[in-house]
Amino acid sequence: MTASRSESVGDAPVTVDRAGLWDAEALSDVAAATFPLACPPDATAEDIDLFIAEVLSGERFGEYLNDPDYTVLKAVAADDIVGYAMLHAGEPADPEVAAAVDLAPVVEISKMYVLPGHHGSGISTALMRAALELAREQGAAGVWLGVNQRNERAQRFYGKHGFRRVGTKTFLVGKQLHHDYVLRLVF
Ligand SMILES: CC(C)(COP(=O)(O)OP(=O)(O)OC[C@H]1O[C@@H](n2cnc3c(N)ncnc32)[C@H](O)[C@@H]1OP(=O)(O)O)[C@@H](O)C(=O)NCCC(=O)NCCS
Repeated sequence: MTASRSESVGDAPVTVDRAGLWDAEALSDVAAATFPLACPPDATAEDIDLFIAEVLSGERFGEYLNDPDYTVLKAVAADDIVGYAMLHAGEPADPEVAAAVDLAPVVEISKMYVLPGHHGSGISTALMRAALELAREQGAAGVWLGVNQRNERAQRFYGKHGFRRVGTKTFLVGKQLHHDYVLRLVF
């Protein structure tokens, strides 16, 4: 993604751009508001809060934004961050996921979250397009991601963008193990 992309989504223009260190706290706020939406109904508030504190704090976003292996894209509407995506370059750490994904070089779309008031608005599509463009620019042969097996809305969204199921994995949220599908899109 060489420059920011502006698209008109409904009545409100949305801009998707790389986030910077100064966005860490605002990204953390959006992450805390949206992460629970991706969790299965039996996830406890305690486990979700633990995950948010450990993985989605402003401090952690500062680390992601400083790490060259990560890129955070923000979707901005009316001066507010309303969604974000995070890309992570490199082979999947889990050997079973790496075998299922079977692509090199590969980029993980490790987060894709939009505030609920903006679902179905096209903002997520703008974020996805920008994420795929960036991964292509980075020379990836394709992208992969994990999605909770009970998150049907997200699965449908990824399916519309060409992702196909290649495996399963687990994902620890607090003390509870969640069950994900591994999805892949080959360029
Ligand atoms: C996942 C997310 C980014 C997708 O963005 P979105 O704006 O909701 O996506 P879209 O509206 O373009 O697509 C969702 C599709 O799921 C459908 N859908 C909605 N609710 C659904 C449900 N309960 N079950 C199945 N499909 C559903 C929608 O109708 C739409 O399909 P359509 O375009 O064919 O009508 C957004 O929903 C989100 O941020 N969710 C909460 C966080 C999350 O789950 N992130 C993904 C983590 S892996």
